[in-house]
Amino acid sequence: MESTIIKSRKFNASFGINHVVKNVNIDIPRNNVIAVMGPSGCGKTTFLRCINRMHELIPGATCNGAMTINDEDIYTMHPIFVRLKIGMVFQRPNPFPNLSIYDNVIAGYKLNGIKLARAEKDRIVEHSLTKVALWNEVKDSLLKKGTFLSGGQQQRLCIARAVAMEPEVLLFDEPTSALDPISTATVEELFHELKANYTLIIVTHNMQQAARVSDRTAFFYMGELVEYDLTKNVFTNPKDNRTQNYITGRFS
Ligand SMILES: Nc1ncnc2c1ncn2[C@@H]1O[C@H](COP(=O)(O)OP(=O)(O)O)[C@@H](O)[C@H]1O
Ligand SMILES: [Mg+2]
Repeated sequence: MESTIIKSRKFNASFGINHVVKNVNIDIPRNNVIAVMGPSGCGKTTFLRCINRMHELIPGATCNGAMTINDEDIYTMHPIFVRLKIGMVFQRPNPFPNLSIYDNVIAGYKLNGIKLARAEKDRIVEHSLTKVALWNEVKDSLLKKGTFLSGGQQQRLCIARAVAMEPEVLLFDEPTSALDPISTATVEELFHELKANYTLIIVTHNMQQAARVSDRTAFFYMGELVEYDLTKNVFTNPKDNRTQNYITGRFS
């Protein structure tokens, strides 16, 4: 039986008076890959940032409703703890340009003032880079700057930086839209491997990508979650007209 890890109920988010996420109820099973799709401006990024409490960092941004991880209220936890448990990877690979590959992987510990012994750091760096299939490529150049890497390698380095904090959930906001097709393929392959240990929630504009990588697809339209089902059902037999119009390319 699949167990739910992230759950929202009647969840709303706004920027000032602009209500952009409307009454969203969703149950996300553990060790699934969830694709979040929908036209530009429909609230995908905002909803994602509500899951790890980044939305509230924007002045004037508010939200309400229930959001839980393992049935615990995310909004009564310490936000820093939430962001460690629920890591995030952005559209453009953003390794810290002044840091080595090694220091990029453990940057989350440094930023949070967590001191580690050298051997522990070495272990975390090797483990995290192995998890993102980057260890063999970079193990002899750990002290080089992360920005020396290709775009796809940089994005995997950013995923390693999130993985290093031992999260349960990884959020991805259009993680391959700045990558070439080959780098995109390496990152997509990685999603399959990561789902053994993590739950992945991936905002994507790319319907083929959603179909390739996800178990379930959530389709948002104007702030509402209009359809959420197994990916094969959403693509072959959508229940809502708006989903059907979107997947057949009637609007983008
Ligand atoms: N920082 C912000 N300040 C004010 N409004 C924003 C901000 N970010 C997004 N919005 C608005 O919220 C709505 C949803 O945006 P977003 O969540 O980014 O959509 P998507 O990721 O689906 O393209 C849009 O109308 C957008 O203009
Ligand atoms: Mg977005």
